[in-house]
Formats: sequence, C-alpha cells, structure tokens
Amino acid sequence: MKVLVIGSGGRESTLVWKLAQAEEVTELYCAPGNAGTACYAENVEIPESEFDQLIEFVGEKEIDLTVVGPEQPLVDGIVDRFVSHNLKIFGPTQNAARLEGSKVFAKQLMSEYDIRTAPYVICEDRTGLEEVTNSKPFPYVIKVDGLAAGKGALVIRNEEDLAGAVFAIYEENRFGDAAKAVLVEEFLEGEELSLFALTDGNDYILLPPAQDHKRIFDYDEGPNTGGMGAYAPAPLGTPEIIKKAEERIIRPVLKGMQERGMPYRGVLYCGLIIHEGEPWVVEFNARFGDPETQVVVPLIKSGFADVLLSIAEGHLKKERFELSDRYAACVILASKGYPGVYEKGKVITGIEELYKSSKAIPFLAGVKHDGTHYLTTGGRVLGVTVISNSLNDAVYSAYNYVQIINFDGKHYRTDIGMRALKKGRFSESESMSAR
Ligand code: AMP
Ligand code: GLY
Repeated sequence: MKVLVIGSGGRESTLVWKLAQAEEVTELYCAPGNAGTACYAENVEIPESEFDQLIEFVGEKEIDLTVVGPEQPLVDGIVDRFVSHNLKIFGPTQNAARLEGSKVFAKQLMSEYDIRTAPYVICEDRTGLEEVTNSKPFPYVIKVDGLAAGKGALVIRNEEDLAGAVFAIYEENRFGDAAKAVLVEEFLEGEELSLFALTDGNDYILLPPAQDHKRIFDYDEGPNTGGMGAYAPAPLGTPEIIKKAEERIIRPVLKGMQERGMPYRGVLYCGLIIHEGEPWVVEFNARFGDPETQVVVPLIKSGFADVLLSIAEGHLKKERFELSDRYAACVILASKGYPGVYEKGKVITGIEELYKSSKAIPFLAGVKHDGTHYLTTGGRVLGVTVISNSLNDAVYSAYNYVQIINFDGKHYRTDIGMRALKKGRFSESESMSAR
C-alpha cells in the first residue's frame, strides 16, 4: 500500500511513524512534512492547501491512500475533490467536516439529537452579543462559529475578559469571517477528556481516552494553546463514562449525520468535559487531536493502515485491529512566547540522542534541519513520548528524556499527567540519568 499523509505537525510525525511500521505500507510520503516526518517518509514540497498539486502527485505515484492530518483542508473540501477523482482519502467530506468547521452547526445537531452540551445562545452581531452578556453572571464562554486554530473559545470570568473578547471580535477583527456568528455558552466545571472514534459513518472503533493539557502554564494557568502534553489511557475515562459517551454522543452523532445525508467518515474527535459523572460535549473535531495522537496512536498494536484504508473505502474492517494495554505520555516543548508571538531559528540539541534511545520517541513538529543543525520553526517544537507498563513510569520517563533536549527559550509544562497520578509537578531534581 502506498500512503500519503498531509500535514506538518507533531500529529503527522506520529501518523507517519506508525504507518512506517506497517508491513503492508510499501511507500510513504508526507506533504509538506517536517524534519520529523522525513525520518520515516519522503517529504513532498506541496502545501496542504494545494489540492490540484496533491491530486496530481497522488496520480503520478499511484498512491492507494491519502490521510489528512489538519482541519483546514477538510473544511475546505479536500475529501470531496479527491473522491471526484476516484482517489481514496481518509477524512470527512466538506459537509461532514462542519462538525468542526461550524460550532453553530455542531450545537444545532446536538440540540436535535439530545446530546449533552453546554446551553448556548447564538449571536449574529455585536449588539446581539452585548444584549446576551449585559446581565449574564460570570463565568461563561464566548466562542466564534468558525475555525480559529484552537483560539476561538474565550472564557469570560470578569468585565475585563468581556471587554477583551468584544474588542478582539468586533474591533480588532481577529477572527475574520469565523466570527460572523458567535456563541455564548455556559461554563462547565470538570476535567477534560478527548475520545476518538475511527468511523465509516456507521460502525466505529474507539481509541484509548486521552487527556490533553490546553493551557500554556502549570495548573492550567495562562492562555489556551494547541495542547502542551497528553497521556492515555486517562483513568478519567472509566468504562462507565466511555459507555455513556458511546450511547449518548457517538452513536447519536453518527445517526444524525447519516440522517442529514452527510455520513461522517474519518476520525470523530469528541472533546468532552466530565461534569458530575456525565460526559458533556465541549467540541467536535474532524481530525486527530494534537498532541493526543502522540499518545493514542502509539497504543495501537496492529491494523492501523488497514482500518484507515477500509474507512476510506467506506466499510470499516476491524479484524486485524488491536490495541495495547500499556500507557503513553507526551510532553510538548514549546518556543518562548508561544502561544503568542514566538522566537524561531533556535538551534536544538539532543534530538539525535533521543532518536537512539530505546524508550523515548521524539515526535518533531516545528523543526527543520538545515543540513547541519535542527532549528526551531514553530510554536510547538516537538513532543517526547514514552510508552510504558505504568502511567507513572510513562510520565516520569518522558520528563527525564525532556532534559536531554535543549534550545534557547525552551518551555514545557511540568504537570502533564500529574492529576491522574495525584501528584503535583515534576522538578528537574527528580530527573535521573535517562540515558
Ligand atoms: P473549544 O475551542 O470549544 O475546544 O474550546 C477550547 C477550550 O476552552 C476547551 O478545551 C476548554 O478548555 C475550554 N472550554 C470551552 N468550552 C467550555 C465550556 N463550556 N466550559 C468550560 N470550558 C470550556
Ligand atoms: N489537542 C487539541 C486539538 O487537537 O484540538
């Protein structure tokens, strides 16, 4: 099987790493990829937005399966374009990707199918938003309807937050067309859980539940990021919670999408908050999460490529699919300034050493190799994943290996997985020699 992966982040490094291990995968490409994907696949210099060029490349190389990493090409209709050329591609169609691309669409589907989500009001303009927020007690959440690179949810705890949100949306025009409609929703207390279903629109396979860490600083302080670390399986996702999520969320969503004439094929990412023992939906995404992929995909023992291909062909085949019973943890190293304006071009040391280790797996994201050095090119630079027999060892080992990597301005959270372990944070003095 010849496979092309589209994207250039840590998620794509992980997908490519996994697919490279599959016997049935004979050729592997990544467009545009990064220095990490280059270790396992041939990088192809085509941007993810250039559908015509991608289609031409796939035709030329006779690629059997294309796997789409990021949301933007999905929302822009890459799957529809590939399908119209009779090419097999893993991901939802443009219509189905509205589950992520329009929060109003997702909310309306959830209301219709009785899926638990925070109560909400839709506002069409500034006056509408001000009317709703005028007398609304804090806290609550303001969300823009469209894609906003994970930065479109603003938690409003006081007048200052509210003024900041109104300024960003209506004066600064930070979200552009994505903010044509805006949602105001109730704030849900609880812990977050990410649950992924690989689905052909009807049948599905669940991957181990993961927990991401969205805020930039320890103990969930500071602004939201794409995600600063993850672990799986998260004990928060008890069999009871998972059963509720399947019965009350995943099956109704798949049914709802079928009934709307837009069956959902691909990975359905359910962003949940576990509130008083019940899973509530915070968001749906139409793609694998990043960094959750870096802990969930390594826990797949076999059959990943077959499952992706079978979904692209329309009928999920799960016979060969097997999950490991181990644990995985991933700590993300970010550039100074992220998620705001960050520095680039810093020399990274320690990556080769990490590649040689038998235990840690570096999943590179914002990294390039200039022929001599690895250099930072992004906000989230790389993730260090460890798979182990215990969550405790996975987390602590990941932290030990993180010490090997250095670059100017390196920032990481020291409390990844600590909530599940009922511990505080990792300190460098706990770091043993990890080599
Ligand atoms: P979203 O863009 O909808 O994924 O939201 C980003 C993040 O904002 C989530 O991962 C949560 O941490 C937080 N968030 C979003 N909606 C809510 C809510 N209703 N209650 C509490 N936190 C929320
Ligand atoms: N880790 C959050 C996301 O992928 O949206």
